[in-house]
This record gives sequence, structure tokens and C-alpha cells, in this order.
Amino acid sequence: MLYEFKPVVMIQTVIDTHNISKIYNPTTIPVYAINDVHLHIERGEFTALVGPSGSGKTTLLNLIGGLDRPDKGNIFINGEDITQLSANELIRFRLHNIGFVFQSYNLIPVLTAKENAEFIMLLQGKRKKEREQRVMQLFRQIGLEEKWNSRPSQLSGGQQQRVAVARALASKPQFVLADEPTANLDSKSAFNLLDIMALLNREENMTFLFSTHDQRVIERARRVITLVDGKITSDTAPAAVNTSHTVPLQQS
Ligand SMILES: Nc1ncnc2c1ncn2[C@@H]1O[C@H](COP(=O)(O)OP(=O)(O)OP(=O)(O)O)[C@@H](O)[C@H]1O
Ligand SMILES: [Mg+2]
Repeated sequence: MLYEFKPVVMIQTVIDTHNISKIYNPTTIPVYAINDVHLHIERGEFTALVGPSGSGKTTLLNLIGGLDRPDKGNIFINGEDITQLSANELIRFRLHNIGFVFQSYNLIPVLTAKENAEFIMLLQGKRKKEREQRVMQLFRQIGLEEKWNSRPSQLSGGQQQRVAVARALASKPQFVLADEPTANLDSKSAFNLLDIMALLNREENMTFLFSTHDQRVIERARRVITLVDGKITSDTAPAAVNTSHTVPLQQS
């Protein structure tokens, strides 16, 4: 009889960037928005990307999310090099693999909270029953059951951002990229959103990579990567969370 070996803990690399650079204005005064960055993210990580304004956080998230292309280097997502994909392949890839949460929520005003949350699944061609089951399950987890029929204008900023997180997660993407997801929220709503992201990270082993300037948010991350002038200058766990989990710096 053949026995299949199943490891108890499976470490799986989700994001792997090899020497990526993004250079704006290459022919006049070049700006190295991202300068030779290696970044390795495993499934289930809950990682913050920090650094001064202009250090390259949004650029790096956009490159990893396939919204922009690097001028140098390769980006492997689940082992697939997305820098080799055509524009149409990249659109499909994003739709089926990546959840985005933006600072400005980007909900569709004429759709209800539930319809907004279902939107990515709708584009993926998922059936109504499956969409509704998944979204209602998420709305229960994030405390939005009462609001499923409200339009974005009838929701607070924190509630709108929770709908945006539900939309990003509904399709069970490989990972979620969030660019300053708490920037427009008051402290209470920001903590609430962080609690929800941490819960979904724990319960669904969802991988999160988010940029932030907020120290209180940084302290909730399990790993903090600092960018300065497009380079990673430190890669560590915040002392307040877990000092034994320092990730070695891979580049200077
Ligand atoms: N489209 C563009 N054209 C030219 N330069 C750009 C462009 N987009 C970004 N940059 C430059 O690239 C650098 C990195 O910008 P980026 O938006 O990634 O920074 P950031 O860390 O997200 O900043 P913030 O914290 O203010 O959001 C900056 O110097 C910025 O001026
Ligand atoms: Mg930014």
C-alpha cells in the first residue's frame, strides 16, 4: 500500500521578487522609485511596508500586484513570473490571484454593500449562490450583516473600508495588497479594520501585505519591511509583537 507523505506545516512562497527596479524619467532626471529589491513573502504572512513619503511603497505594491511593470528584474507569484505575461494575461492573473484594498475604498456608488463585495466574484463568473454564501459569511465575520443592503454613501468610512476588504477577500485570492488601508479612518475604525484583517489572516490563512504610516498599525504587523529611497533598509518584527521572529535582512 502506498502512503502519501503530507507535511504538517507547508511553507509556500507566494511573492518572490528578484532584483526589481522601477525607474521614472529615465532619460531626464531618473528617479529610482524601486532600486534592486529582493522580497520574499510566505503564505499566511501579515506584513507591513513602511518608510517615508516617496520611499516607494505604492510603487512596490503596484509592481507586485501587476498594476505596473518593473524596468528590471522578475516577480514570481506562486512560482509564475508575472513580468513575462502579456497585458491581457496580466489582467486575468490579477482578477484570479490578487485582492486589492485602496486608501480611497473605490466602491461603486450605485451598488449595495453586498453587490460591491460580490463584484470580483461576479467578474470571475462565480454563480449567484456561491457569491452570496461567501459574502454573507464574510459580512458575519466583519460585523456588517445589518448593512448588506446599504449603498456606500449610507456607510461610514470604516464600514466602507470593511466592504472593500470583503470584496478583496471574497474571491479567496492568493494574497491581499493594501495601500494605506487605514489612512482615511479615525483611530477606532482603523483598529477595527486591523482586527478584521488579523482575524481573516488567522482564520483563512490569508496573506496580507500592507503599506502604512501609522505606528499603531505597524505594531500589529508580524513583520515590518522598511523602504528608504526605493531600497529595503530593514526587515524585522516589531519588538512589541514578537522579538524572536526577526527575519534576516537579505540585501544592503
Ligand atoms: N508616475 C510617476 N512619474 C514619476 N515619478 C513617480 C511616479 N510615481 C511615483 N513617482 C516617484 O517615485 C517615488 C516613489 O513614489 P511612491 O508613490 O511609490 O512613494 P510612497 O512611499 O508610496 O509615498 P507615500 O507614503 O507618500 O504614499 C517618489 O519619488 C515619486 O515622486
Ligand atoms: Mg504611497
